[in-house]
Amino acid sequence: MTQVLADDRLNAAEHSPLLSTAVRDHARSLTGWVVVDSLVDGMAMGGTRMTSTVTEQEVCDLAAAMTVKLALVGLRIGGAKAGIVSVPEHREDVLRAFGRSVAPLLHGGVYLGCDQGTTHDDRDLFFVEAGFDVSRKPGITRMRDDWTDLWRHLKDITGYGVAEAALEALRLRADDQQRRVAIQGFGTVGRSVAKNLLAGGHKIVAVADVLGTVAAPDGLPVAELLEITDPAGTIDRARLPESVTALTGPEAWLDVDAEVLVLAAGGAAIREDNLDRLRADVVVEGGNLCCTSAAKKRLRAAGTVIIPDVVANVGGAGVTGCILTGLAPSDVPTEELVSWLFDWVGQQVRRNTRDVLAIAAKHPGDPIPELLATRRAEGAGV
Ligand SMILES: NC(=O)c1ccc[n+]([C@@H]2O[C@H](COP(=O)([O-])OP(=O)(O)OC[C@H]3O[C@@H](n4cnc5c(N)ncnc54)[C@H](O)[C@@H]3O)[C@@H](O)[C@H]2O)c1
Repeated sequence: MTQVLADDRLNAAEHSPLLSTAVRDHARSLTGWVVVDSLVDGMAMGGTRMTSTVTEQEVCDLAAAMTVKLALVGLRIGGAKAGIVSVPEHREDVLRAFGRSVAPLLHGGVYLGCDQGTTHDDRDLFFVEAGFDVSRKPGITRMRDDWTDLWRHLKDITGYGVAEAALEALRLRADDQQRRVAIQGFGTVGRSVAKNLLAGGHKIVAVADVLGTVAAPDGLPVAELLEITDPAGTIDRARLPESVTALTGPEAWLDVDAEVLVLAAGGAAIREDNLDRLRADVVVEGGNLCCTSAAKKRLRAAGTVIIPDVVANVGGAGVTGCILTGLAPSDVPTEELVSWLFDWVGQQVRRNTRDVLAIAAKHPGDPIPELLATRRAEGAGV
């Protein structure tokens, strides 16, 4: 994983975070790290990843990616990330110990939310343990609902932004045909992408989960698939509708005839060793670092349109940043706030999609450094 995260756009060799700290409590089986990659106006934010394999380097790379993501959408807040090595048998103890350890950071302006392996309930648990109440943070958008309730309305926000990136890429090519879409990953992001691209008039012909790929060349019955998918994003193979075929073979989602491929599972889904199988000519990174740098270079050279993760999957981070920095409107009804946040994400993603593709059309290298320089010149981020 670490090798994949060391993307050249972050100038990994020259890059070092502002602060990287180990968080340990041996009595409670806690091993973790908090990395603050950058501060803007004394603030930083990022998610808390809890996996069995997380490393300090991975957390550093993810924190650097947060800096880029937040700057690209013009938010005045730096990037951070936390990692906790998961110990399933002591999960609650570990989270509580983590909350106590990171309390000074949370109170000092480093917001740590959820990421892979942590839920809103986990985040609430370590906030309580840290005595941290986000709604009391100075300068934050004042909400009528509490933080957790607001998130119930925003669970589809990242996938919405990812779908907007795909739609904008098609619009830019003056492509108004119904297109076939394959989606790797059918979790929170992948399911939302499927709903939004279907609503945008396109046909979802394949989706993949951890068990493999299911496909229907004439279009999957998305609503029925959603009903037989568990919250972790696994489709119940015993209840597949008749029109749906379970494909065999590893990474069968690559071989499906589709014009658009959305990657919404893990890192390094497309690599040099499998990119020759790719059929789609629009690839959207819905997850983080879904294509390796080397694969992206070769795909760009071959004329494939790639929307990078830091452009496409900013929804969740972006709305958190909008609220923490007070950019989102205060004291408005929740529906109005939610609608404002969806509109904002759509605008940011469409704008960055247009600009990143314009830069990519000028030269074959990674377009992100130039886009970042443009946004920084406009006064964004660090
Ligand atoms: N949820 C967010 O708001 C958000 C924001 C930014 C980035 N991301 C990143 O996007 C990715 C997806 O996030 P999510 O929240 O939907 O995760 P999730 O855990 O809800 O879903 C992951 C999906 O990927 C599938 N999957 C796992 N391994 C696979 C494989 N080898 N092949 C095909 N499918 C596989 C799982 O079965 C599941 O359907 C993650 O990398 C996450 O870090 C998520």
